Amino acid sequence: VSEVARVKNFNSIQMGKHEVETWYFSPYPVEYAYCNMLYICEFCLSFYASHRQLERHRHNCQLNHPPGNEIYRHEAISFFEIDGRKQRTWCRHLCLLSKLFLDHKTLYYDVDPFMFYCMTERDAYGYHLIGYFSKEKESSENYNVACILTLPQYQRMGYGKLLIAFSYELSKAEGRTGSPEKPLSDLGLLSYRAYWTETIVAFLLSATDDITIEDISHKTSINTQDILHTLQNIGALRYYRGQHIICLGDKVVEQYERNQLKTTKRVILGEKLEWKPLH
Ligand code: COA
Ligand code: NA
Repeated sequence: VSEVARVKNFNSIQMGKHEVETWYFSPYPVEYAYCNMLYICEFCLSFYASHRQLERHRHNCQLNHPPGNEIYRHEAISFFEIDGRKQRTWCRHLCLLSKLFLDHKTLYYDVDPFMFYCMTERDAYGYHLIGYFSKEKESSENYNVACILTLPQYQRMGYGKLLIAFSYELSKAEGRTGSPEKPLSDLGLLSYRAYWTETIVAFLLSATDDITIEDISHKTSINTQDILHTLQNIGALRYYRGQHIICLGDKVVEQYERNQLKTTKRVILGEKLEWKPLH
């Protein structure tokens, strides 16, 4: 691929009622390269060069939610599980769309080995896609997320943390620990650090007994390495009388309590998950 081809191809996309500026190049078919704005059907994710073409399509498009099974619903939030092999076209469209906002990852356009977990918000018109993560059906490295994205029109509202929380709910249901595929983007790392910190601090504050890193891992499905890094990051790992101990500083606790007061707080309720592990 030449350097020229890697220059971002569209300035923006239109999707549902949102107009969004793109961030990076995505390998949409070259016939569309002349477009300034790409028009995307928010439900089937097919793409058009003009608003008129999209309108015509919307007239015939029957879809008002992602294909696949709804495996979670709480209030207006739903998750759909989509098998890359069974919904190849839809999943390829999703990968093309998300590449517009992903720089570093070689996105896998061979979608067959992946499941896609798509989060939607429901209103009278349908289930609007907010974000998703993909997950290898079989991960030799125990990754529980391959790619993760909140569409830019929904970023910084806590949805990324919801996606991450959901990925760990799946790992809990599988009875294992997991970790996101590396390398993470800057935004990905920030979001994961925020999630790990919040989850681990919550667990430590609720504890009445002595707690080991294995206990935390067992309860949260966060792997021990990510727990160690998080504890180091927040200065909670101390060396005392020849032993490592976990000890939360006042600042960390205050920060946690401030976070809990946020009005936009959304949570994933494990008991609302209707899902059996693949293996
Ligand atoms: N600047 C600073 N901190 C940020 C941030 C930003 N732009 N975006 C997220 N964070 C941190 C914050 O600590 C935030 O918590 P807070 O708002 O309570 O302080 C935390 O991450 C989670 O934010 P949240 O609103 O839940 O995340 P999001 O819905 O914006 O989604 C990503 C996060 C990573 C999924 C989103 O930025 C994204 O899709 N990026 C492009 C794709 C990508 O890089 N994916 C990861 C690599 S595979
Ligand atoms: Na263009």
